[in-house]
Amino acid sequence: MNSIAVCFVCLGNICRSPSAEAVFLHCVAQAKLADRIIVDSAGTGDWHIGQPPDERAQRAARRRGYDLSPLRGRQITADDFAHFDLLIAMDDANAAALTEICPAEHRDKIRLLMEFATRDDSRVVVDPYFGGDDGFERVLDQCEDACEGLLKALRTQLVV
Ligand code: 4NP
Repeated sequence: MNSIAVCFVCLGNICRSPSAEAVFLHCVAQAKLADRIIVDSAGTGDWHIGQPPDERAQRAARRRGYDLSPLRGRQITADDFAHFDLLIAMDDANAAALTEICPAEHRDKIRLLMEFATRDDSRVVVDPYFGGDDGFERVLDQCEDACEGLLKALRTQLVV
């Protein structure tokens, strides 16, 4: 029996990556794989360390049954590249920031979340921070789509 650890990464760790974390935790729990798949999130920036997710992200998530309130912002650390099997970035800037600090032997762990989407062909999860409420709905739509695909991909790597 193996386990797989994934960390979702955005800029602030208060909008997109906590949303992805909550959506994916829900998928994992539904699949009864909570003991096999470890889920976390982090930001590349340090502005929101220790803060709860953005109120707008919390509100949008709550309407769909996801609770972001226990989550707190943290910044990615060098140790995360060894600890996690996948570091899943929301956009190209996040992926580039990760690549810059990632030890060479772990670079293939860095992926984009939307690679796993099957319905939405957008390359990235767009930053909703400076926009309106519709941006937060779009983030959740994209996370729900991609997290379904991510779970399917990870199932193939779980050894029975
Ligand atoms: P996130 O959104 O990267 O999805 O958490 C942002 C949060 C904060 C800021 C930018 C994006 N900011 O500029 O503080």
